[in-house]
Amino acid sequence: MKRFILFLLLNAFVMTQIQAQKPDFLFMVEQAVKAPSGHNTQPWLFKIYESSLEIRPNMTKSLSVVDPDNRELFISLGCAAENVCLAAAQKGYSTSVSVASDGVITIELHKLDGVEKSPLFAQIPIRQTNRSVYRGKMIPSDTVALLKKIPMLDQVQLYAYANKSREFEIVKLLVERGNTLQMKDQLFTDELKSWMRFNESSSKKTGDGLSYYSVGAPSMPTFIAKPLVGSYLTPEKQNKGDMEKIESSSHIVLLTTKHNTIGEWVALGRSLQRVLLQTTAWNIANAYLNQPCELPQLREELKTQLHLPEGEYPTILLRIGYAEKVPYSKRKDVKESLL
Ligand SMILES: Cc1cc2nc3c(=O)[nH]c(=O)nc-3n(C[C@H](O)[C@H](O)[C@H](O)COP(=O)(O)O)c2cc1C
Repeated sequence: MKRFILFLLLNAFVMTQIQAQKPDFLFMVEQAVKAPSGHNTQPWLFKIYESSLEIRPNMTKSLSVVDPDNRELFISLGCAAENVCLAAAQKGYSTSVSVASDGVITIELHKLDGVEKSPLFAQIPIRQTNRSVYRGKMIPSDTVALLKKIPMLDQVQLYAYANKSREFEIVKLLVERGNTLQMKDQLFTDELKSWMRFNESSSKKTGDGLSYYSVGAPSMPTFIAKPLVGSYLTPEKQNKGDMEKIESSSHIVLLTTKHNTIGEWVALGRSLQRVLLQTTAWNIANAYLNQPCELPQLREELKTQLHLPEGEYPTILLRIGYAEKVPYSKRKDVKESLL
């Protein structure tokens, strides 16, 4: 009998602990879903345990054409994991992150005294992908030096190439060729179109995808926009816009991994999120130019032409610079991502 009462008391204690932590863990998930993801698919699922949080890939959201190896999907999970770590520190939890071979990320969470908060936490809701034409103003060299010092995880490397440099021009030409290949690929444009949200009501209804305003398009009924958009997704139109946007940027940032594994993609995502949040704090805008990393033939050329060290894998390309803020993209309700 005594044993049974002890068992009940212990159980009640554990339950109270979980209940007390639950709002904190939910808060962490709320911050996690503000992370960027390819085509804004939000390919994550979260499971809350007693003293840990799991981030699982939601493979129903994979982009089989643009991201056949799910590299960008796991990078997106890494971005979300970094937000969890920053939110955990904010609430006084220490974190320890591990990635299983199937890409499930476990974040052990322990409430401790003296956990240091990060100033990057405040940037989570402010960060955004900004696809507009930038102001053409260069980022000062001391800020670029600080950018290169942002701590990268595992074997992730960061390179920054200034506008007009040889490397900047190489990336620009490869983006141009990448656009030409991707825009001529019906499967690519079909996949892209399926994630486009052409007006406010469809953007609100799904809470995901690429809203018309985030790609600088006017709002239109879907039945009118869908056939029309094809005439904009052409190599010529895409390149005209992108070349002007790249030219208006100060630098191109490249992130690489050493072995191109799931664990490294997650580490790259966490490192990327640090770069995005730190540059946001400096009022620097960013947008992606991943075409040369997505297409195997161009990736090889990128490696050789940039003289990357043997075995280094170009994975994420960003343009950065100064710009006006743009409207924020939407997110699904957190409940939809909770297991
Ligand atoms: C791994 C990854 C790859 C991405 N690739 C592209 C890209 O090729 N082109 C692009 O315009 N945006 C790209 N994005 C940005 C997403 O479309 C963006 O994060 C998403 O629409 C949500 O918008 P937000 O970043 O403003 O919150 C990428 C984001 C991630 C994390």
